[in-house]
Amino acid sequence: MSARPPESPRAYRGRLLTPLAASSNGDRVRYLDDALLVVGSDGRIVEAAPFAPGAFRGPVLDLRPSVLMPGFIDAHVHFPQTRIIGSASGSLLDWLERSVFPEEARFRDDGYAALVAGEFTARLAASGTTTCVVFSSSCAGATDQLFDALLRAGLRGIAGLTLMDQNCPEALCVPRDDAIAMARDLVQRWHGAGGGLLEFAITPRFALSCSRGLMEAAALLAHDHDLLVQTHVAETPAEGEATLREHPWARDYIDVYDRVGLLTGRALLAHGIHLTPREWDRLAEARSSVVHCPDSNFFLGSGRMRLADARARAVSVGLGSDVGAGRSFDMRRSMSSAFDNALCLGDRLLPSALFVMATQGTADAIGLGLVIGSLEAGKEADFIAVRFPEHLLGEAELLNHLVFAPETAAVHRAFVRGRPVHLRRLGAPPHHSP
Ligand code: GUN
Ligand code: ZN
Repeated sequence: MSARPPESPRAYRGRLLTPLAASSNGDRVRYLDDALLVVGSDGRIVEAAPFAPGAFRGPVLDLRPSVLMPGFIDAHVHFPQTRIIGSASGSLLDWLERSVFPEEARFRDDGYAALVAGEFTARLAASGTTTCVVFSSSCAGATDQLFDALLRAGLRGIAGLTLMDQNCPEALCVPRDDAIAMARDLVQRWHGAGGGLLEFAITPRFALSCSRGLMEAAALLAHDHDLLVQTHVAETPAEGEATLREHPWARDYIDVYDRVGLLTGRALLAHGIHLTPREWDRLAEARSSVVHCPDSNFFLGSGRMRLADARARAVSVGLGSDVGAGRSFDMRRSMSSAFDNALCLGDRLLPSALFVMATQGTADAIGLGLVIGSLEAGKEADFIAVRFPEHLLGEAELLNHLVFAPETAAVHRAFVRGRPVHLRRLGAPPHHSP
């Protein structure tokens, strides 16, 4: 479980597209037509600057005309749903019963879990996702397989055992004390493994499938180890009503998580479509983050998240594929669906804003905004190389194709901390007529 050995400094030449550092810079990007990205032996970026002949003495991998950009970050994805993408079996609660729970029960078999974990990490890397925040199943063995696959693949990942002790099939139900003991063991084995690339996250599925006692115990464990918390909130009205019938002591959905101690500054709440103004205010006060999962919201018919509610309160918003309700591991699909979601609400997001959302914005939401999310000196070198048709010359055209026509923009290399995690050999650059 140790980190891979360091490598000598390397440099990559190509076009370069990156968010402009900190989130305070909003949606602005930096584009260089010919750049050099220098990576130190510690996996950090030494320099991301315009190419100057002779300025770097050492091997340079020339990736022109590809564009170097930060790897995508998926802030919400379900590993045991890898094989059920596209199961259109109804809205959220029906879909969980009919498609999700039967599949997740199969992950009690370690062999099956290992097989799917390999598929899962390969699909992430091939999509240019270098960091993921992941729900495992409720089974500790499957969660070990997931971490092991992330480690082998060299990806950055924050993952958790999915907690559920009620309102679920027996095959998935794990009583509180067993679940907390399993989570403690997983923290010992995996939190900080891979030289810090891997983290364990406290992962109550959602309040409907968790007793108050389980959520309180989980919150204590999160507090003890300063762990990220991830769960679902306000995805559909029916789920919200069932949640308050189950937890009548709470004044609203956010209050359930608040009172049990899960609404922390490291909480990532997925969906947040049907939150009231009070809930948004409380979320902002607690400095929790929301994960926008627009492709999933369209697929399950859950509704449209109002980004403006988050922005008005400076709530940090990350982007999540939510596979398997989301239909693709490719975060470009989520960016495109985020555009559609906003358009339905009368807003028009710029491709640059969508690109920033899936990189620096999501890094900020998951607490890694100073470590990854943009290409600048001092950050860890998580980046991808994307090949576009040659006729695309400028920043605006590249962004349009990146976000809305991913089939014209092949991710052919991906790196985490400067180490290759994906390589797809391409032929000659494609020539598309303009
Ligand atoms: N709410 C509780 N579990 C799930 C899940 O697996 N997917 C989605 N989209 N919502 C959920
Ligand atoms: Zn989800």
